[in-house]
Amino acid sequence: MLVSAEKMLKKAKSEHYAVGQFNINNLEWIKAILLASQEMKAPVILGVSEGAAKYMCGYKTIVDMVEGMMEELNISVPVALHLDHGSYEACQKCIDAGFSSIMYDGSHEALEDNIRKTKELVEITKKKGISLEAEVGSIGGEEDGVIGRGECADPTECKQIADLGITMLAAGIGNIHGKYPENWEGLSFDTLDQIQKQTGDMPLVLHGGTGIPDEMVQKAITLGVAKINVNTECQLVFAEGTREYIEEGKDLEGKGFDPRKLLSYGTEAIKEKVIEKIKLFGSQGKA
Ligand code: 13P
Repeated sequence: MLVSAEKMLKKAKSEHYAVGQFNINNLEWIKAILLASQEMKAPVILGVSEGAAKYMCGYKTIVDMVEGMMEELNISVPVALHLDHGSYEACQKCIDAGFSSIMYDGSHEALEDNIRKTKELVEITKKKGISLEAEVGSIGGEEDGVIGRGECADPTECKQIADLGITMLAAGIGNIHGKYPENWEGLSFDTLDQIQKQTGDMPLVLHGGTGIPDEMVQKAITLGVAKINVNTECQLVFAEGTREYIEEGKDLEGKGFDPRKLLSYGTEAIKEKVIEKIKLFGSQGKA
């Protein structure tokens, strides 16, 4: 059964580790992440962007696929199915489809509008027992065509949004989606420190987990980050694994063209990457 991310994130924040959000793209992704989390006995959040949901034929298809797979694979660790960077409309669709967690991204709107819509969603999600992530200030980089610049959120605005009754808060601290450029200045720990001081117990979310050096990730966790999102890194290792399979000529041997074989290297690479991140985030054995 899918669960809200509330309990797992409160525990993570109080015990100083982070739960991984790994974005999904298809059956292989879901399977690899679920198996890795079960093996590590780690709670996990499956992230779904609006673009990925379109690709996977809609939110209902995803709910059914994840639930079916959890039953078939005997997954017993807590799993939250979460909308990543959703519009207000997408949030409503996900609630109706059976998602257990949503993110409303009003960071590109005027603060009053972000507050008003987040507040409405707090009421709806509370009634349904669904966790809600809100965002303040845009997080840089490109995701589904949205480009930003590694911006830092205003800690006072963070407090205003955190006080609305949300479950977790994403706030820019110089992080960027996708690969980091050579000249990236790193995370702004000053900003993070101020945000955590203003927001207290609120679990903070670090987006753009791909390519942040391990020491920075660990330091961010000590400063209140309880959820870390990783997407691009899994895509990169999947592509590398699949390339290796083909370059080794495996698809030309016997029935190597069978998609179950063709995608096996990439799928295993995602599983290994997720295990590596769970260990880094400290969520191993926390299910
Ligand atoms: P990356 O693709 O940089 O890992 O970011 C993922 C993310 O933040 C999803 O919201």
